[in-house]
Amino acid sequence: MLITGISQLVTNFSGVPGDLGIIRDAAVVITDDTIAWVGPASDIPRIHRDAEVFDVGGRAALPGFVDAHTHLVFAGDRSDEFARRLRGESYEQILAGGGGIHSTVAATRAASLLQLTAVSLARAQRMLRSGTTTVEVKSGYGLTTDDEVRILQVAEGLQASGISVVPTFLGAHVPDRGADRATYVDLVIDEMLPAAASHAEFCDVFCDRGAFTVDDSRRILGAAAGHGLGIRMHAEQLAHTGGAALAAELGVASADHLDHATPEDAAALASAGVVATLLPASSFSMRSPQAPGRMLWDAGVTVALATDCNPGTSNVESMPLVIALACLEMGMTPEEAVWAATLGGAKSLQLTDRGRVASGSLADLVILDAPSYEHIPYRPGTDLVSRVMKAGEWVG
Ligand code: NIG
Ligand code: FE
Repeated sequence: MLITGISQLVTNFSGVPGDLGIIRDAAVVITDDTIAWVGPASDIPRIHRDAEVFDVGGRAALPGFVDAHTHLVFAGDRSDEFARRLRGESYEQILAGGGGIHSTVAATRAASLLQLTAVSLARAQRMLRSGTTTVEVKSGYGLTTDDEVRILQVAEGLQASGISVVPTFLGAHVPDRGADRATYVDLVIDEMLPAAASHAEFCDVFCDRGAFTVDDSRRILGAAAGHGLGIRMHAEQLAHTGGAALAAELGVASADHLDHATPEDAAALASAGVVATLLPASSFSMRSPQAPGRMLWDAGVTVALATDCNPGTSNVESMPLVIALACLEMGMTPEEAVWAATLGGAKSLQLTDRGRVASGSLADLVILDAPSYEHIPYRPGTDLVSRVMKAGEWVG
């Protein structure tokens, strides 16, 4: 297929953070699920000229969004806690009182496989329609071996929607209600990890005040690496507890949230080559200060953007909204935010076959109902996604 009429194409060709590699009046040739050729419409090689033509009519195109941090497999919702937080209660008070993550764990355990699959699939389908072609999905609302594995199996099943799923084991989300933390860490290492490893690509730990310590996290992630899993972390979200320094020490793929990261953390992450996956919709929904995205970027850290889709801190599915928040609330430029939501996300998940519109990349594309990518942060809340292509097929 030959796609023409692209007013502005984001290619991310160079791989340099923030360099969108824009081509004006562009064309893209797709063969099966792969991009075969990209360039100005005036240069289409002769061999591609009789391909089936799809004219997008002067719209902008960019790589499909890579949402590198979600907890999208959950049942129930926490709109009641959301309203309590708006009246002044804190997230940590609600969690310590047995609510928060624990209420979602109870609802998720109580849901049948069919119910859990249906609500999660609906989320994945809405994400795909809003331009997300690859999504990372964490477990973490099971907290027993069987419940954690069940969530990872539901996550795998979401590929039926067409979206690519990268499953992550997050048994170390919080210790199960009533469990002793040290005993729970042993359970994660001795029982959950061996059972979950074949269902996941990464292992994550919620290293924070009220969740797991740096020492717990070091043990769990070390064991996960021994099972051949990639490793990533929730770090410095609620308080500064040393998670970013551990992320750099272990050379994890990505340190996420980083709301309380310091310039020293930034220097360590940059020199260790750890991606910072930032979640501006989470701080927005929590009404807490944003992560220092500008400082991290300027310190040379590779930045990704993601939704953190979950029922507690960020019931957000839309990467265009995340791009808008990164620009308007975190001080990133439109170029940086669009790069971080596409190639940045691919780097966070260590995927080398996507995040670019380049020959040989997976044919994952977003066509905007707008002439340029700047319209994404400029028009927050307006659905600007005209069409979505996943692996060479129009899916939305
Ligand atoms: O990324 N920080 C830990 N986990 C989620 C919140 C989970 C929940 O509240 O249900 C997060 O913000
Ligand atoms: Fe999270």
